[in-house]
Amino acid sequence: MTEVVRTRDELAQARSRLLAGTDEDRPKLGLVPTMGALHAGHATLIEAARSECQVAAVSIFVNPMQFSQESDLARYPRPFEDDLARCVELGVDLIWAPDVDVMYPGGPAQVWVTAGALANQLEGPSRPGHFDGVLTVVTKLLTTVRPDRAYFGEKDYQQLTLIRRMVADFGGDVLIRGVPTVRDADGLALSSRNVFLSVNGRRAALNLGAALRKARFAASSGGTAAEVLSAAGTVLAGAPDVQVEYLELRDPDLSPTLPAHGPARLLVAATVEGVRLIDNTAVELTPAGSDPTPAESR
Ligand code: PAF
Repeated sequence: MTEVVRTRDELAQARSRLLAGTDEDRPKLGLVPTMGALHAGHATLIEAARSECQVAAVSIFVNPMQFSQESDLARYPRPFEDDLARCVELGVDLIWAPDVDVMYPGGPAQVWVTAGALANQLEGPSRPGHFDGVLTVVTKLLTTVRPDRAYFGEKDYQQLTLIRRMVADFGGDVLIRGVPTVRDADGLALSSRNVFLSVNGRRAALNLGAALRKARFAASSGGTAAEVLSAAGTVLAGAPDVQVEYLELRDPDLSPTLPAHGPARLLVAATVEGVRLIDNTAVELTPAGSDPTPAESR
């Protein structure tokens, strides 16, 4: 049964009921924070929560603090009945769907979490204040729901990185789980914005995924960081309908100082037909001089 709660008291009562047990044997609670308009990407997060935790909760809250444009906030889809049906189908136990005045009692937040330098890079310049809003609401969600694990998509890799960093910095004992990006059969990363692309726009947008694949191939063939970046850049340069905003290779924590070898993250943001798209991939840089061919095929 899927229970919907809207106030903090209802949440606290449902939480105690669902998690009844002694400290050792109490069920684990997994939370999937969302802003609703659930799609297959959210379904993967919910499935991950269900497979690792006995109780799965989804929060649905369109957070005004993370929108810089009033018009974007007003336009944001709120198909609550569809979301509820999807949660029921996926076996979600609890939906936490507070109104704005429950989440922000007494009006706009007076105290919020400031995201620091990383929030001004990559996505930062085009979304001022966005990550402060995200971290503030995620803090509220984590402190009210108090999950054992919380699930976020790797598609929003900068968001995931900042949330991990916040939990580490504040010493929270929730485990933050990153779940791989879900893609359509043609390779396009799922996003609620994809519906705004025409057939030609979608074809152009596939270059983002193609650039990431080329970069992974360059890395697995022993390419240096510069060569990996240039492999992706060449694909995007050959796509006139894709306006690249950034293409950056960083370490997995998104610090700009990239080690010469080991795990790295390649991130891209671009506009196609006025639709802003982001994507990213893990890349493994091979030490110079080593044989990048997998041992079994040497
Ligand atoms: O990724 C999202 O949907 C939102 O940024 C989040 C994490 C639910 C916070 O509002």
